[in-house]
Amino acid sequence: MYLGIFDTPERASQAAARIVLSIFEKKPRATLGVATGSSPEGLYSQLRAAHAVGDFTLENSKAFALDEYVGLPADHYQRYRNVLRRELVGADKTGLLDENLHTPNGLVSDSHAAALAYDAAIQDSGGIDVQILGIGADGHIGFNEPGGSLVSRTHVEALASQTVKDNARFFGDNPAKVPATCITQGLGTIMEAGTLVLVAFGENKANAIAQLAEGPISAKWPATITQMHPDVYVLTDTAAASRLEFGDLYKERWQLKFGI
Ligand code: F6R
Repeated sequence: MYLGIFDTPERASQAAARIVLSIFEKKPRATLGVATGSSPEGLYSQLRAAHAVGDFTLENSKAFALDEYVGLPADHYQRYRNVLRRELVGADKTGLLDENLHTPNGLVSDSHAAALAYDAAIQDSGGIDVQILGIGADGHIGFNEPGGSLVSRTHVEALASQTVKDNARFFGDNPAKVPATCITQGLGTIMEAGTLVLVAFGENKANAIAQLAEGPISAKWPATITQMHPDVYVLTDTAAASRLEFGDLYKERWQLKFGI
């Protein structure tokens, strides 16, 4: 695992974008796994900027969302399919075609079947080359909340109370409006992606980042499973890195790898 600790979220997002771009330079039709939430917004903005100057395109690529709320109406502003459309789809964004944006279907009556179908679709497409991730304050990735299986496939998940509280900001600060369930790629699914690029900013994430890098692998902090992945990049600002015990070592290791 490589940890890049930067002064600002903007610098960390630039570094995350450089990693994604370098993968697409080697494999222009790579498949991108995409997170939602606040953390990847700066990274997506960098990818749109790279597309605008012709350095990057998702025109010939597929993108798979990490997760989707169950039951939000098709036109709901916070439905992750709609969020990702606004961030990525179209020639004025990253070139991604709407039909190549895949999201779990949270609108069918059998969410469990939809989850299985989504997992199969990822596998049938040849898998995800690079997966962008955020992390919850409780250590979730995707919406794999504490205490779940560390090898799970895409499944229906109940949102933890911490996550409902944190995500209420997207629903008029009203926790009662946050959907109670979602479909999420499982930890086993996420671990099959070729490269993981995780972005995290702010003091609220400091505990989760310390556990992610230095905690024992445990279902209590689901993101710790990524310690077993061979190609992981974690990009943070100084606040999210503030509880790491070996921050100086990570800076040296990053410099050895990237020369910055
Ligand atoms: C979103 C997702 C979640 C978020 C996490 C952090 O698709 O899977 O794991 O990445 O909840 O959310 P933000 O970035 O809003 O703090």
